[in-house]
Amino acid sequence: MGEGNNFLGDKISEATALRIIETIDDAVITIDRGGIIKLFNESARHIFGYDASEVIGRSVNILIPEPYRSAHDGYIERYMASREPHVIGIGARDLEGVRKDGSRFPMDLAVSEFTMAGESLFVGVVRDITRRKHTEAQLLQAQKLEAVGQLTGGLAHDFNNLLTVVIGNLQLMGRRAGNDAWMKQRIDAAQHAARRGAELTRQLLALSRSQPLSEQVVDVNQLVGDMHSLLERTLGETIEVGIQFAPSLHATKIDPALLENAVLNLALNARDAMPDGGRLTIETGNAVLDEAYAARNADVAPGRYVMLAISDTGTGIPAEIIGRIFEPFFTTKEVGKGSGLGLSMTYGFVKQSGGHMQVYSEPDFGTTFRLYFPVSAEMTAEARHAVTEQPRPHGDETILVVEDDAEVREVTVAMIEALGYQVLTAGDGPAALAVIREHPEIDLLFTDFVMPKGMTGKQLAAEAKTHLPSMRVLYTSGYTRNSMTRKGGLEDHEILLSKPYDDDTLATKLREALE
Ligand SMILES: Nc1ncnc2c1ncn2[C@@H]1O[C@H](COP(=O)(O)OP(=O)(O)OP(=O)(O)O)[C@@H](O)[C@H]1O
Ligand SMILES: [Mg+2]
Repeated sequence: MGEGNNFLGDKISEATALRIIETIDDAVITIDRGGIIKLFNESARHIFGYDASEVIGRSVNILIPEPYRSAHDGYIERYMASREPHVIGIGARDLEGVRKDGSRFPMDLAVSEFTMAGESLFVGVVRDITRRKHTEAQLLQAQKLEAVGQLTGGLAHDFNNLLTVVIGNLQLMGRRAGNDAWMKQRIDAAQHAARRGAELTRQLLALSRSQPLSEQVVDVNQLVGDMHSLLERTLGETIEVGIQFAPSLHATKIDPALLENAVLNLALNARDAMPDGGRLTIETGNAVLDEAYAARNADVAPGRYVMLAISDTGTGIPAEIIGRIFEPFFTTKEVGKGSGLGLSMTYGFVKQSGGHMQVYSEPDFGTTFRLYFPVSAEMTAEARHAVTEQPRPHGDETILVVEDDAEVREVTVAMIEALGYQVLTAGDGPAALAVIREHPEIDLLFTDFVMPKGMTGKQLAAEAKTHLPSMRVLYTSGYTRNSMTRKGGLEDHEILLSKPYDDDTLATKLREALE
């Protein structure tokens, strides 16, 4: 014992020393040169499942599974010869221990040596790191998905701009084509392909958690209830659909269309897992994910959640692949049957909504996916449904279009002019402010959210309003990149038009913003 440790008196009695060893949270095991166990404390009993009396006098090998056991045999010998600490496994890489019942667990091992009555003894301190390994693996998985997401998100964003140009120009051509049937057919085909492209970028944005969200206060019971007959039709007669709704379910603020997509994706996966039929159960509930749960699950914020569970009685998911199912393009389905995007999109949407997603599967019995969405502060769950078909709204007000991409700007201007409006343009925030100073007649500022020259659409709007307080604002963006949602992004009353857009949506949003 060092000088500083004599607070218990000049000598710690043997009894005291033993009590200290017995209270330590880590397993403390002492062995001699031959690897024979001399001391085995209470925590060691707890971790390995043996009583001290069962192991004292036996080789430490019984606590070490292969292949570590063979490696360990040579450790002590080599250590005595070389005196280099690493050979006895100090700071060892991945090490595993084996319990009395044969189960294995990852452990941290620190070894030190001391001499007593001329004999070398080794003290091993063992810590069970199962929990830590589990959290690390989860974190790694989450980071991997995020990295793939970022890459895809960037690509999809640029594609959205290109598609906006393509769709817009085709629409303008379509109007000039008049009654030319051949032209109309070509244009329709091109438009169809462009829209499919837009659909694909939407999926990619979803998995990259950067799709524009149109969040509303949603009653999940009602939304899922409305899908009941759709699900029955989609899943076919051999699959029974059961629904168990929790009464007085809290409201949550999410994008209802994306939740419908998520439910559909999970239901389709369930159908594919039940080729001979079975049962799909959808359950809702109010859930509290507490600190303990958050500690076990790397990316969960403790709090109150609305839980939506979707279970099937299908094949289940083999343990070897369950860690990969959320990866984009991971699929076990035949070419043409699955793209492997369903779960990654769903996961991306849930994460982007501030939620949490979990899977539990039992091969041959079935699978349960649980989605958790944060409870909304607004408790009135009235899902408002969007307006339907109407003649395309138009007007004659003056609109300032601010967009840094020249091609997008050009087609947007053409589309807006076609609706009857007066249009002014600018390529960035500072240029837009110059136009605003010259033109007090501007009724609406239609601006891209993310722009160069150090001024976002939001900053531009704030600055512009000091000149023209009554001017309205409509934002557009290809993605959210978090900037648009939680962190200082758009507020509820602010209107966003997602790219790529067609002229119907543009016309509607312009009127919505102007009125
Ligand atoms: N309910 C389930 N039961 C069994 N396996 C499932 C279930 N859900 C997902 N899986 C497995 O996870 C994989 C990935 O699912 P995901 O929805 O991401 O892609 P996919 O269904 O293969 O293709 P896509 O959804 O793009 O059409 C599936 O191929 C399947 O192996
Ligand atoms: Mg799928």
